[in-house]
Amino acid sequence: MVFLTQAIAVLLAASKVQFVSAAPAPVPSGGVGVRSNDTPPVYGVMSDFDYQSFLLALNQEWIELDLFNYGKSRFSAEEFASAGLNADDVSLIQFKADQEVGHADLLSNIISIGGRTPAVQCKYKYDFDTVPDFVNFCQRLTRWGESGVYGFLSHLDSRPAAALLTQSIATEARQQMVFRQFSGAHPMPVFFETGISQSMAWSLLSRYLVECPAQNPKIEWQIFPWLSVTNESNLLQDGYLAAITHNRTSLSEPGRNITFRWDDTNQTVSYNNSYTTSIGGAINSSAPAFVAFVSQLNVTYAPLTVTGSNTGYAAQPGGVVFNNTLDPVINGTTFVALTDVDLYVTPYNLSLLNDHIFAWGLYQAD
Ligand SMILES: *[C@@H]1O[C@H](CO)[C@@H](O)[C@H](O)[C@H]1NC(C)=O
Ligand SMILES: *[C@@H]1O[C@H](CO)[C@@H](O)[C@H](O)[C@H]1NC(C)=O
Ligand SMILES: *[C@@H]1O[C@H](CO)[C@@H](O)[C@H](O)[C@H]1NC(C)=O
Ligand SMILES: *[C@@H]1O[C@H](CO)[C@@H](O)[C@H](O)[C@H]1NC(C)=O
Ligand SMILES: *[C@@H]1O[C@H](CO)[C@@H](O)[C@H](O)[C@H]1NC(C)=O
Ligand SMILES: *[C@@H]1O[C@H](CO)[C@@H](O)[C@H](O)[C@H]1NC(C)=O
Ligand SMILES: *[C@@H]1O[C@H](CO)[C@@H](O)[C@H](O)[C@H]1NC(C)=O
Ligand SMILES: *[C@@H]1O[C@H](CO)[C@@H](O)[C@H](O)[C@H]1NC(C)=O
Ligand SMILES: *[C@@H]1O[C@H](CO)[C@@H](O)[C@H](O)[C@H]1NC(C)=O
Ligand SMILES: *[C@@H]1O[C@H](CO)[C@@H](O)[C@H](O)[C@H]1NC(C)=O
Repeated sequence: MVFLTQAIAVLLAASKVQFVSAAPAPVPSGGVGVRSNDTPPVYGVMSDFDYQSFLLALNQEWIELDLFNYGKSRFSAEEFASAGLNADDVSLIQFKADQEVGHADLLSNIISIGGRTPAVQCKYKYDFDTVPDFVNFCQRLTRWGESGVYGFLSHLDSRPAAALLTQSIATEARQQMVFRQFSGAHPMPVFFETGISQSMAWSLLSRYLVECPAQNPKIEWQIFPWLSVTNESNLLQDGYLAAITHNRTSLSEPGRNITFRWDDTNQTVSYNNSYTTSIGGAINSSAPAFVAFVSQLNVTYAPLTVTGSNTGYAAQPGGVVFNNTLDPVINGTTFVALTDVDLYVTPYNLSLLNDHIFAWGLYQAD
């Protein structure tokens, strides 16, 4: 009897411990959407800004799906092998295409939940003929895909939608890194991945869209005139094969004389010739004066010397991030703009640079 009472007391004590532990865990003050009486999350776009940002990102997912499938079917196992890519690597490219199906589903759903119309897939054009050029194009395309999302994530009205987009762009970031490895490049020669504005990303993406179905909603971001680097070192020039990493000679260095050529404004571009390029709305001079290098946490300017009609050159700036000589500010696959002024902008207000852009492009610093 005594034993039985003791046993019941132990049971009671155990159940009491359970009741005590059911008290809610403290949530530090602040934060959004983390309490049971907060509004439940709705995973839809909430504004025109959200909608147009997701529409851009969805168009990016669609081209990636097409591109990865196209490259995989276009080249033979022998052609992949001569670039150092074996059957397992080719399977990984296929898996990346499969990931894009999921990403396109997610973004289409977020747009639909917000009561808007998603875009369907288009027809695209590519200008590569070899496996190295294919994987190099993939690392450039996924670079602006990834950076294009970082640029607007923290500006979205819908935090729940931003949370899901983060989970898909984390995968895209891995794709970008692997495509750099497939190109024989250093996987990530920076400490920080940069963000760019929607107009900057759309200016790069829109070039590869040839025809879209009439049902596709109009993308309202600006398209800047194209800026090309005319003496860029080719990432593939030294013949490095696919590898996890190479300690290779850098493609560029501070002081390098970079030559540029850029398009006139008001050109008809992109799918069905349905868009027109334009320069920044605050520009009041007739010629650009600076090259803006957008890389890591920084926008770094170099004076532009105009040498002729739509041509010029500038010296690649030096400098580091956080005074750390191991992190030269301009490295990897970076972005360049011609501007009228050397506007001071930081990662969260980079889109204010849009109003000062004459032309926009990519610069392969390494
Ligand atoms: C683009 O052109 C194709 C082929 O003519 C056509 O089917 C499609 O509806 C056009 N799209 C737009 C947005 O006009
Ligand atoms: C860039 O091109 C110019 C003109 O051809 C040349 O003088 C300069 O050396 C080139 N720079 C590099 C790093 O190739
Ligand atoms: C590769 O580069 C790093 C940093 O520049 C250096 O510390 C390391 O010794 C190099 N490794 C080889 C194998 O050359
Ligand atoms: C870019 O990073 C790589 C790897 O750390 C380094 O070897 C190279 O010198 C850097 N390039 C520039 C332009 O700083
Ligand atoms: C840079 O290249 C341009 C175009 O070839 C040339 O006119 C200029 O003199 C070069 N500048 C330097 C500092 O090398
Ligand atoms: C471009 O188009 C705009 C609007 O139609 C016009 O105001 C501007 O003068 C044009 N600029 C050039 C360089 O053609
Ligand atoms: C041109 O733009 C600059 C920089 O935005 C500004 O300081 C200047 O007042 C503008 N000039 C005119 C004539 O609008
Ligand atoms: C780049 O930005 C970082 C962070 O704001 C800063 O520490 C660094 O000085 C900047 N570097 C250059 C070259 O502007
Ligand atoms: C930057 O680094 C240099 C050399 O390591 C040091 O002398 C200097 O004080 C540092 N500057 C800042 C702002 O940290
Ligand atoms: C961008 O933000 C920085 C602060 O991070 C501020 O100093 C700068 O003036 C802003 N740029 C513009 C153009 O408003």
